[in-house]
Amino acid sequence: MAIQITVNGEPRTLDVDPQMPLLWAIRDHLRLTGTKFGCGIAQCGACTVHVNGQARRACVTPVGTVADQAVTTIEGLQGDEAVAVQAAWQALDTPQCGYCQSGQVMSAVALLKRQPKPTAQDIDAAMSGNVCRCATYVRIREAIHLAADRLEG
Ligand code: FES
Ligand code: FES
Repeated sequence: MAIQITVNGEPRTLDVDPQMPLLWAIRDHLRLTGTKFGCGIAQCGACTVHVNGQARRACVTPVGTVADQAVTTIEGLQGDEAVAVQAAWQALDTPQCGYCQSGQVMSAVALLKRQPKPTAQDIDAAMSGNVCRCATYVRIREAIHLAADRLEG
């Protein structure tokens, strides 16, 4: 069945089962491999993308449910929050192995879009669904604070 979605600003047509996880559609059909597979059961956040600007776990999102909606992956992330988060990640050398980091960045950008000046508690709450096996949590929190400070000017 043909499903129309907009991915990173481009209209795409996918001829797949609407029950297919969005993550498979993104990685296997659209070849956008920046979004990672971790647990497959909405427990790790490695697969986080944005659907209409909101963070969403692509591993448990049937692709049919995002028909005609705007999906953004790490490859298409744009805007002030994205630039600030990516710069802060670089400034603080946040990633270790890097596997979880595209999901972390997607969650961080979604947080700053809805809450430009989050407290440490806000950050911990918003990021609690993004697991990092390298335990980079302290640097992630610092990087989000730094991005928020820079956005504030
Ligand atoms: S792979 Fe989706 S939350 Fe873990
Ligand atoms: S940086 Fe290695 S899993 Fe997070």
